[in-house]
Amino acid sequence: MAGRRGALIVLEGVDRAGKSTQSRKLVEALRAAGHCAELLRFPERSTEIGKLLSSYLEKKREVEDHSVHLLFSANRWEQVPLIKEKLGQGVTLVVDRYAFSGVAFTSAKENFHLDWCKQPDVGLPKPDLVVFLQLQLAVAAARGEFGRERYENRAFQERVLQRFHQLMRDPALNWKVVDASRSIEDVHEEIRVLSEDIIWTATQQPLGELWK
Ligand SMILES: Nc1ncnc2c1ncn2[C@@H]1O[C@H](COP(=O)(O)OP(=O)(O)OP(=O)(O)O)[C@@H](O)[C@H]1O
Ligand SMILES: [Mg+2]
Repeated sequence: MAGRRGALIVLEGVDRAGKSTQSRKLVEALRAAGHCAELLRFPERSTEIGKLLSSYLEKKREVEDHSVHLLFSANRWEQVPLIKEKLGQGVTLVVDRYAFSGVAFTSAKENFHLDWCKQPDVGLPKPDLVVFLQLQLAVAAARGEFGRERYENRAFQERVLQRFHQLMRDPALNWKVVDASRSIEDVHEEIRVLSEDIIWTATQQPLGELWK
């Protein structure tokens, strides 16, 4: 399979939909099937920008809303050289949240327009597949109490969900909505099949640019 790039697979969904659980399981399954696969997540809290974002999310510091939106985007851009290098080496990347979360969360705040929120992420590597883990907020809430991190409240999550639905209307992206209310194994199996398909088909095309 020399020369074939890896696929860029993103998992999105509301809080507690199972993104992290499914991202980990997907990487394991792809590796077991003989693919090179690695896990990424956003925010990537290990970088300087990521540490700032982490303390913002933990409510240990305040950052102005526009400014923090740009920092979340910068936290993705700073990983772009690595993302391109890995994909070029044939490594499939499974990404736990991406620009869609960034846009959905900021645009759920008062006085933020969706288009403004998208601009900083225009041109990021375009995912070959975006899996949206669909789960009613009441069911997601039953998977555990809301934590103490910023944004973890029901009213805000409702607004975030509306924004995700707006973003999913974009036909230029390969969104796949997956019913996340089923067992971890059943959800995993659907995502695994979708991912195997994309590894064999979309990766014959060059990597695209998001929202361009
Ligand atoms: N299909 C499922 N059925 C029941 N419980 C699940 C399922 N998937 C995940 N869980 C549980 O729900 C909780 C949240 O899962 P997980 O951390 O994977 O979600 P997440 O989408 O990454 O959440 P966050 O947005 O907070 O990062 C965990 O306790 C996990 O074990
Ligand atoms: Mg998670």
